[in-house]
Amino acid sequence: MANRMVVTGAAGFIGSHICEALVARGDDVIGIDCFTDYYDVAQKRANLSALLNHPKFRLVEESLTRMDLKRTLSGAGVVFHLAAQPGVRMSWGTDFETYIEQNVRATQMLCEAMKSSGARLVYSSSSSVYGQTAHLPMREDHPTRPNSPYGVTKLAGENLCLLYAANHGLPVAALRYFTVYGPRQRPDMAFHRFLRAMLQGEPIEVYGSGTQTRDFTFVTDAVAANLAAADYRGNETVFNIGGGSRVTLNTVIDLMGRVTGRTPDARFSETQKGDVMHTMADIALAARELGYAPKIGIEEGIAREAEWLDAQRRGVGN
Ligand code: UGA
Repeated sequence: MANRMVVTGAAGFIGSHICEALVARGDDVIGIDCFTDYYDVAQKRANLSALLNHPKFRLVEESLTRMDLKRTLSGAGVVFHLAAQPGVRMSWGTDFETYIEQNVRATQMLCEAMKSSGARLVYSSSSSVYGQTAHLPMREDHPTRPNSPYGVTKLAGENLCLLYAANHGLPVAALRYFTVYGPRQRPDMAFHRFLRAMLQGEPIEVYGSGTQTRDFTFVTDAVAANLAAADYRGNETVFNIGGGSRVTLNTVIDLMGRVTGRTPDARFSETQKGDVMHTMADIALAARELGYAPKIGIEEGIAREAEWLDAQRRGVGN
């Protein structure tokens, strides 16, 4: 019998890729999304274009905080929880309320609805839970002290999942992604902005000196981690999911120039509040417990995102 899977944030960047991977292997998928306006809703609709008419996929267009969760989740084997208010640099000021609502309150309501359902929860966490740290690579048992309000809410969400695991036996895996990129990446993220600007012959705006590093992770590797976490039956609960491609932004820009054949025009501006200087994942735990091994290196990954953006600009892709 096919498994029933639920994906929250199904129309988003990573969520839509997970839905596609699940239906491709024969699972029945309920995708939940409330199409928040954090970025152009048209991109989210486009993300779902291969799924909407798929016989194994059903979209529930509703907010987690307002829907009848128990009914929608009934019969689910696994819930992949990706719905969130994303974005490190936007989470200051009055916008914080949205982060609390989408990342903390919604997660708590999901945990409540799931606590005695028997379903497994795979929570999308973030490298931003670590904050500015001198200890690299970051390991799951290192201290967590986020550097942005966004990171505070992602950590709160993660802690809620772990609380429900400890107190109610909710089976949980939390995946701390490290700056995921690839086709359908959110338009506020660096790779998307840089590549789009280059393809349009416009300047790139770099926050800070470009010497900051990220352990960039290609989206199909993040998807593979989710599928492995869904099947995991061991005792570990929190996993770093890095790409093994830790480079500076300046290196990224050089690679983008090489891949696109354009000459990057980088303009440097102020470092943004909330940003950390470096991230680097220790992925030994995910490798050992989940069999996780990132497969797509940075140059190939950039080429694939550039290809997608170029097709999107020409109106031929999703
Ligand atoms: C990303 C995601 O946006 C978060 O949702 C996620 O939780 C986080 O990764 C994570 O790994 O935990 P971030 O690392 O800030 O956050 O990803 P980008 O938006 O791609 O930024 C990477 C770097 O490029 C940052 O230093 C940022 O300041 C810089 N940047 C971004 C620019 O210099 N210019 C831009 O136009 C955009």
